[in-house]
Amino acid sequence: MSILIKNGTVITAQDNYVADVYIEKDRIATIGADLKITADKVIDAKGKYVIPGGIDVHTHLDMPFGGTTSSDDFETGTRAAAFGGTTCLIDFAIQAKGTKMRDALDLWWKKGENRATIDYGLHMIITDLPDAHLEDMNDMVREGVTSFKLFMAYPGVLMVDDATIFKAMRQTAQNGALVCMHAENGSVIDVIVRKTLAEGKTAPIYHGLSRPTTAEGEAVNRAIALAEMAGAPVYIVHLSSNDALQKVAEARDRGIPAYAETCPQYLFLSIEDLERPNFEGAKYVFTPPLREKWHQDKLWEGLRTNNLQVVSTDHCPFCFKEQKEMGRDDFTKIPNGGPGIENRLQLLFDGGVNKKRLSVNRWVELVSTTPAKMFGLFPRKGTIAVGSDADMVIWDPNVEHVISAQTHHMRVDYSMFEGFKVKGNAETVLSRGEIIVDKGKFLGKAGRGHFVKRDSYAGAWG
Ligand code: URP
Ligand code: ZN
Ligand code: ZN
Repeated sequence: MSILIKNGTVITAQDNYVADVYIEKDRIATIGADLKITADKVIDAKGKYVIPGGIDVHTHLDMPFGGTTSSDDFETGTRAAAFGGTTCLIDFAIQAKGTKMRDALDLWWKKGENRATIDYGLHMIITDLPDAHLEDMNDMVREGVTSFKLFMAYPGVLMVDDATIFKAMRQTAQNGALVCMHAENGSVIDVIVRKTLAEGKTAPIYHGLSRPTTAEGEAVNRAIALAEMAGAPVYIVHLSSNDALQKVAEARDRGIPAYAETCPQYLFLSIEDLERPNFEGAKYVFTPPLREKWHQDKLWEGLRTNNLQVVSTDHCPFCFKEQKEMGRDDFTKIPNGGPGIENRLQLLFDGGVNKKRLSVNRWVELVSTTPAKMFGLFPRKGTIAVGSDADMVIWDPNVEHVISAQTHHMRVDYSMFEGFKVKGNAETVLSRGEIIVDKGKFLGKAGRGHFVKRDSYAGAWG
């Protein structure tokens, strides 16, 4: 199959230019002005942007968590991602304590296989790392799992101590992988949470109030110090506050390879959402929590100045009915996580490009190119170049739409962004040269998405 996309404005992290893009099988074969090539299908993209497909490096599909399982699996989650212009994601396999990472990898491959509709990679969450298992990390790198997430939060569940983090970072200093840190001081938060509950404060707002920004700033600082001592780069996930951002900025000013992502929820929502009546605040319970509104401007500024390099979603959906409701009488029982995989490009385009906070090139860089570089997918993915996978989106910058659970494709009964009016959306989405979404219709199929092996010594290594 060959496709010729004519007259579109090609937008990469560097360039904007009007050109035709010719796709042969699964790759981009030729880019040029007014190409005279015969193709099986010709698409006129005049007035539209032609961008590399979005890459969401932080999702939790089919993940057991908080006594339940996230409501999107690899089929429904990747389909929703595709509708929003995301053509590759990186999900998290979780090593169960006392087991080999390979067991988790096998389990997550099974979750993805026959279900994924777009390509996907995996990070490995390390929950326990005796010296005898350090070699497991090299084993993962050989399998293309070149990043590891460790938690400074969720004591008794996922949290590991500083020695474990340091050992994991030292291992990545040898094997070229990247440690991703959930940075919140879990031990201190645990003390605050127990006191809060003892005072009879059980509503969703107390989730936010018991996780201060200082607990995030302290953990980010510690994570960076540990990485510095280990001689490895570090990537802070779902950064939510100015306190945390300042720690990243200070380290970067010193030339330390510290990187961070934020997520749309921290750019568009605030702690006030946790106070919504009728327990609706539970829809906004995730960690780190939503912050006071003023942090949003600081995060946008961080995106502009490159102290934040990536926008991911941390998509971890739980339905309000029966899942979020598990915590009606106790906010600690509300499963932590929110849905967003479908809306990342729309929100960043509308809040970033349309509101003149970001250029279109910076938008592409944040949602596709840097994620690909940081996580070992570039230049296979994350750009429009001859030889790259034809993971592409024809983006209509003028179409308007209202985000709503009534019309979204995520398998979850609410939207965190219900009623948001956005301008700009994916019109046609190609994954490895196949049209999988066209004008609101899904044309892909479950199982067509491949597991992608990622390179080590990727962008974080300079
Ligand atoms: O609340 C969240 N963020 N749930 C997903 C797990 C995590 O910490 O990323
Ligand atoms: Zn996390
Ligand atoms: Zn997460």
